[in-house]
Amino acid sequence: MSSTKSRGVKRKSNVPKKYTERKLSARYPTDLPAWQALKKHHNAVMRDKSLRELFARDKERPQNCSITTGDLLLDYSKTHVNNVTKKLLHRLAREADVPAAIEAMFAGDPINATEGRSVLHVALRSKISDTIALAAPGVRDVWQVLTKMEEYVDAVHASMIKGHTGKRLTHIVNIGIGGSDLGPVMAAKAMRPFWSAGMRFHSVSNIDGTQLADLKTELDPEKTLFVVCSKTFTTIETMTNANAARQWVVQVLGEGAVASHFVAASTNHAAMDEFGIAPDRRFGFWDWVGGRYSLWSAIGLSLALVTGMKNFRRLLAGGRVMDQHFRITNLDENMPVMLALLGIWYNNFFGAQSQAILPYDNRLERFPAYLQQLQMESSGKSVRMDGKKVRCDTGMIIWGESGNNAQHSFYQLLHQGTRLVPVDFLLSESSKLATANCEAQAEALMDGTTDTDIEPYRVHAGNRPSNTIHYKQLTPEVLGQLIALYEHKVFVEGVIWGINSFDQWGVELGKKLAQARLKAT
Ligand code: F6P
Repeated sequence: MSSTKSRGVKRKSNVPKKYTERKLSARYPTDLPAWQALKKHHNAVMRDKSLRELFARDKERPQNCSITTGDLLLDYSKTHVNNVTKKLLHRLAREADVPAAIEAMFAGDPINATEGRSVLHVALRSKISDTIALAAPGVRDVWQVLTKMEEYVDAVHASMIKGHTGKRLTHIVNIGIGGSDLGPVMAAKAMRPFWSAGMRFHSVSNIDGTQLADLKTELDPEKTLFVVCSKTFTTIETMTNANAARQWVVQVLGEGAVASHFVAASTNHAAMDEFGIAPDRRFGFWDWVGGRYSLWSAIGLSLALVTGMKNFRRLLAGGRVMDQHFRITNLDENMPVMLALLGIWYNNFFGAQSQAILPYDNRLERFPAYLQQLQMESSGKSVRMDGKKVRCDTGMIIWGESGNNAQHSFYQLLHQGTRLVPVDFLLSESSKLATANCEAQAEALMDGTTDTDIEPYRVHAGNRPSNTIHYKQLTPEVLGQLIALYEHKVFVEGVIWGINSFDQWGVELGKKLAQARLKAT
């Protein structure tokens, strides 16, 4: 409250207004002085500035335009920023109240206002001593659920828990969609070297039945464990697939086998009950975990079953490293904040409509798809927190593919097309060949061709921006840092635009219409 009444006298309170009471970024970002200054700076200086020139003027540019934290190095030297740009971008973050928003998230304020919820995926990877929103309902249970997961995973690995007929459970099938699929699938692929001996990961998400049909031809139901993942436990695709899998198990092994071959992760205990998931095979989480942020919760169970809990905890530890950096580091040295500001710079000032995510690390093959949901479901909004229409563009279209495959597919457009596509390269330095290719591509995008007497169709105009996020090797900790980096980047962009990054009302209408059509047939 901004003021308190005492004996009828209205007194001004010294308690600062809570962030959410002030409404997230109550002013249009376009009205902020820093936005106006950035507009001028863009038009007068940066719009036509060549990246080559920026490099020529500053011999120390790679050092001056990079941030290191944990195991990651963000090199943004190949973007159109100079010291003035950086200062203005950081001013924009300050004027948009980004530091207060960060604190509000960690404090458990209900910043997901349209759903009246806190946003606390950061609590899932915290230590209890971090005291992140411990008063919020459920937060103190986080570590209990992790222990329950650990006991279950260890028992499966030690064959203390087996299939109905006594065989070891080695084939883990994740049934889910959206965040309940993309997270586990992306991370299982990324953490392939960390899989426990003999364990295999599979997934079923789509509604047309083909994925399960294919798996049925190759899997032995006696060794198969289905992990039904759904925050709501009502999602039509997931429930259809879970029921089809259940039918298969019942058909082959009998009704009594369901309890041994199905576990579930959800916030809906009644629905898990109805499905026949025994209480000790149910892994809960809380409404303050958004679907696209749920890998860190019990939704990560299929991943933990395949990699072992120790490696799952390493992933969480990586996320925590980025959280701590994000929470306490000044705006100008803050990696997620910088990545967000660069996104806004190209989106709102240079007019870029899409961004490519290009991992030079095949284990991150599904990372672009994962980031598509994270960024487009979070930032694909045109109404602000205060209910008014936005006055600037919001989320860009996110797309991508792993590096060398993409080079032989769509890089033509990146190098010579008419559209500006800022790029994020993710580079694992563990492969010399991948490193050489990634660095060559970043250089070609920036420098283009310098020959003057070549045919026009050979000309690479260059001056195309890219960030490179370097890491030595894709460990579970590095993966955790990468995911959390982008989560926070998306949040900061949303704060500046004044939108709610944590709801997804735009997916509801299509679902409703599909239900109506099904009822009518
Ligand atoms: O329809 C979108 C969505 O709600 C996503 O946000 C979510 O990740 C996905 O559906 C799956 O939802 P659930 O985990 O409840 O099945």
